[in-house]
Amino acid sequence: MSRMLKSLVGVSLLTCILGTAAMAQDVSFGQRIFQDKGDCKFCHGANGDGRGDPRSPGAGANFHQTALKREQIIEVITCGRPGTEMPHFDKYAYDDDTPCYGMKEKDVGKDKPPEPHSTSLTKREIEAAADYILATFVGK
Ligand code: HEC
Repeated sequence: MSRMLKSLVGVSLLTCILGTAAMAQDVSFGQRIFQDKGDCKFCHGANGDGRGDPRSPGAGANFHQTALKREQIIEVITCGRPGTEMPHFDKYAYDDDTPCYGMKEKDVGKDKPPEPHSTSLTKREIEAAADYILATFVGK
């Protein structure tokens, strides 16, 4: 093999290894959000099957059977689900500048999803939690 070819292979191998490491890191970041910081497991169960803590309001979604795409999962975490116990994790959800499902505070009214019992999350944390759900539970 020519030296140039060798170094090309070397570079792409390295890119590949680094890429995988970056993804793995994101999933473990998402795992911490899901299991600890956001305490999603309280309602959804540590295994994402919807069997949460008996003290939780119950009826948390089972992610193994979800039909939602990545963007929709991110939207539900950001905005919660109106009229259910699924909290909105974006602190600014339903504000005038950041409506959810086309609704502002006054439109969603008493159906506004609750605040999280844990803490609000940043956009990056919400995306990482969604990627963890996709990598770990969906379709498995
Ligand atoms: C207080 C309980 C509770 C907590 C905490 C909670 N959820 Fe939920 N979640 C629910 C409930 C209940 C539903 C189902 C709502 C419905 O009936 O449509 C749901 C639905 C969802 C859905 C939609 C799934 C689908 O297939 O429709 C996603 C995604 C989701 N939750 C992600 C999360 C993530 C991520 C966290 C943590 C950051 C979290 N949830 C924390 C109760 C909770």
